[in-house]
Amino acid sequence: MANKSLAKVPESTCVLVTGGAGFIGSHTCVELLNKGYRVVVVDDLSNSSKVALDRVRQITGLSADDARLAFYECNILDREALTRVFQENEIDAIIHFAGFKAVGESVQKPLEYYWNNVAGTLVLCSVAREFDVKNIVFSSSATVYGEPDFIPITESCPKHEATNPYGETKSMLERVLTDLYKGDNEWNVVLLRYFNPIGAHESGLIGEDPKGIPNNLLPYVAQVAVGKLACVGVFGDDYPTPDGTGVRDYIHVVDLARGHVAALEWMGGKVGTGEAIGIGSIKGTPAEDGTRRGVGIFNLGTGKGSSVLDVIHAFERACGHELAYEIKPRRAGDVAENYAACDKARDELGWVAEYDLDRMCADSWRWQSTNPNGYAAS
Ligand code: WQD
Repeated sequence: MANKSLAKVPESTCVLVTGGAGFIGSHTCVELLNKGYRVVVVDDLSNSSKVALDRVRQITGLSADDARLAFYECNILDREALTRVFQENEIDAIIHFAGFKAVGESVQKPLEYYWNNVAGTLVLCSVAREFDVKNIVFSSSATVYGEPDFIPITESCPKHEATNPYGETKSMLERVLTDLYKGDNEWNVVLLRYFNPIGAHESGLIGEDPKGIPNNLLPYVAQVAVGKLACVGVFGDDYPTPDGTGVRDYIHVVDLARGHVAALEWMGGKVGTGEAIGIGSIKGTPAEDGTRRGVGIFNLGTGKGSSVLDVIHAFERACGHELAYEIKPRRAGDVAENYAACDKARDELGWVAEYDLDRMCADSWRWQSTNPNGYAAS
């Protein structure tokens, strides 16, 4: 029934990052290594590139064989491979990103999404438990709020049925992880609800590298700016928003990554008042060494909404030329406006997003213009 302690210094703490070669995962590896943590990445490379990890080493000054960053190419559904990872590494905590994440695709392929995202997480937690690893930070999403009852959205905003299977997998897994704690109070769970992660590391070495035509706004705009695509389609300009286009809470991916490091510190009892505030959070009884037990739920956003046209004009400032766009019909399932209240993360995690939209676009442009084909050999 025991759990590994997170009261240790980062240099003595090993973090398993599933999906660590991905967009948010690779940026989080940089921040963990910068803080002195040892990192073990598990990734099946189905939607990422191993080159990203080479770039992480380049950014953090690690040689190719430096044991502070280990990599295992495997899927979290592969129990035998996961067991070997835990046998070969003294894992203390898990940051769990691995999962399919395309909203539209999930509508077409619900079985693949429930199998990969939900069953995969069950295998991961089952193996982790065998090795007394019950500290887990989960990559959740603001999509669990569905059409929010109010904005800005606080963590106590009721969850609604997501408009797609992808969002449902996030909501289900929040419930699974909460029930793991309710059934065994040794579990130490943080659910991080992301808003709209964009941008790239300031080095331009890592960034978002979607496969095929991007579904999301920012990578699409970036590919228009670099000339890979011709024109941005603006999905609706008749919403009840300042300029009629959709409003979202865009957050710099480096800010988001730093939120995960803050969550680990919180789990280790090193920050925060100990009150897991707000509906859904469960304040457990801390372990003897002060490390937390229970379920913490936090929105990671900036608290500021930006419209589609705001993003396009910010990207024009970043790339130095105008971008072609045309108004198109609304996209099914889109809400008009959605942005976070982030007081809880500020008060409990001691975390606040630092970067504004212009910085997000400037960093994204540096990545896109120096890597026009992403991680593929240019
Ligand atoms: C943003 C705005 C569109 C593309 C999704 C997921 C969410 C999270 C982030 C994983 C909206 C408009 C978009 C385009 C446009 N992902 N748009 N033209 O839908 O807010 O959130 O990604 O966790 O779960 O739902 O992000 O970037 O697709 O859209 O006008 O070509 O841009 O209508 O207003 P979204 P998005």
